[in-house]
Formats: sequence, structure tokens, C-alpha cells
Amino acid sequence: MPRKIAAGNWKMNGLAASLAEVSQLPKGGDVTVLICPPATLLAPMAALGRDVAAGGQDCHVAASGAHTGDISAPMLADAGATYVIVGHSERRTDHGETSETVAQKAQSAYAAGLIAVICLGETLDQREAGETLAVIAEQLKASIPAEATAQNTVIAYEPVWAIGTGKVPTIEQIAEVHDALRAALPDTSLLYGGSVKASNAAEIFSVANVDGALVGGASLTAADFGPIITALSDS
Ligand code: 13P
Repeated sequence: MPRKIAAGNWKMNGLAASLAEVSQLPKGGDVTVLICPPATLLAPMAALGRDVAAGGQDCHVAASGAHTGDISAPMLADAGATYVIVGHSERRTDHGETSETVAQKAQSAYAAGLIAVICLGETLDQREAGETLAVIAEQLKASIPAEATAQNTVIAYEPVWAIGTGKVPTIEQIAEVHDALRAALPDTSLLYGGSVKASNAAEIFSVANVDGALVGGASLTAADFGPIITALSDS
């Protein structure tokens, strides 16, 4: 059985005081609770000693070198991370990352002993053109390295048009993509991401082949994220 994962992506949000939210999260039971705070908070978050996994939000392809402002997978691991998100649509859009770069980043994550949370998803134009499954298949092929296994990789399906917009795909739309992902990756944890909140989490987790969620805005406070963890635990 793929493991259930409730993952929070804090993006560029969070100061030291925000760690109090992590301390207040409910126990996950059979759910792995993962928080990906800004890199500045990784070490203090890991030091909380809570049963919450810590993850980076991105890593450089290289392990070290002259890349001002970047952070490498071994550095994330050194700070206490066990996961790293790669290929988030905001990285693909804001930093021009290609699927080939994403695959290299995943390889760098594996080399550092990190689990890569590889993100993919279609734009609104692609969905409206009926290209969703073709886009997902292409991203899967190009973004996932040959070394990927169900142990070192998690996939997050995040439709670009659902991220931070309050728009959520229908249950049927989520199911269609997750069924296709499951056919390709039988044992890998498959997360849905995009406007997940306490009020829609249980319905999303009832979809076959959805093993959890990658949550942005609603992961920033324990009041919002706690019920999502509980909904996954109850599913
Ligand atoms: P929101 O939950 O804020 O829509 O963000 C989703 C996301 O991008 C998580 O990586």
C-alpha cells in the first residue's frame, strides 16, 4: 500500500514564530505529516523533535558549487530534511525549469538520501484543449528519473489552474488523472494539490488512488492543516 502523506508547502511564508503552528499539529496516526517550510526554518523545525517530517521546497542539481542563492540536496539533508519538493509549477514558471532539470534535481535528491516529491500538472489552456492526460504522460516520462522507486519518490498532481485560486477540479477530473498515474506507478504515493482545505479534504481523499495532499495556503496554520491531517487519517 502506498503511504498516506499530508504535506504542507509553506512556499515563501513563515518566520521563526510560525514553528508554533507545527508544534500544535495533531498526531498523524498512519499518516506521514510533512512540512516543507522555507529553508531558513528547516533546522529549527527538525529540532522541535515533533513527529513531523521536514522537507525542502527545491534543490539545485549540483551538490555544491558557485551558485549564489541556491541550496543543494545534501544541505537540506544536513539541516534535517528527509524530503524535497522538485518541479513545483511555481519553479517551472518563475525559474523556467524544464522536466529534464526536474529529473536531474530528483537524482540529486536521491544521491543525498532524500525522498523527492515530484510535481506535475496541466495549465488551464491544456485542460481546455483536452490535452491533460497527454501532458501528464509527457511530464511523467521526462520528470521522473530511471532510478525512481516507490520508496524514494512521491508524485504530486497539481493542476496549475487550481493552485492558490480556490478552484478545485471535479472528483471525476482528479480520479481520471490519478488512475492514469496509478497505472504507471502502482506502489508510489500519489498526492493531489491545489486549493485543498479542511472543507474539501475528505471528499478529495475519498477518490481512489489519492494517497494524500500537497497543501499550500491551508498548511500555514494548525487550525487549517490539522483537520486535513485528520481527514486523511480517517479516510
Ligand atoms: P494551495 O493549496 O495554496 O492552492 O497551493 C497548492 C500548492 O501549490 C502546494 O504545493
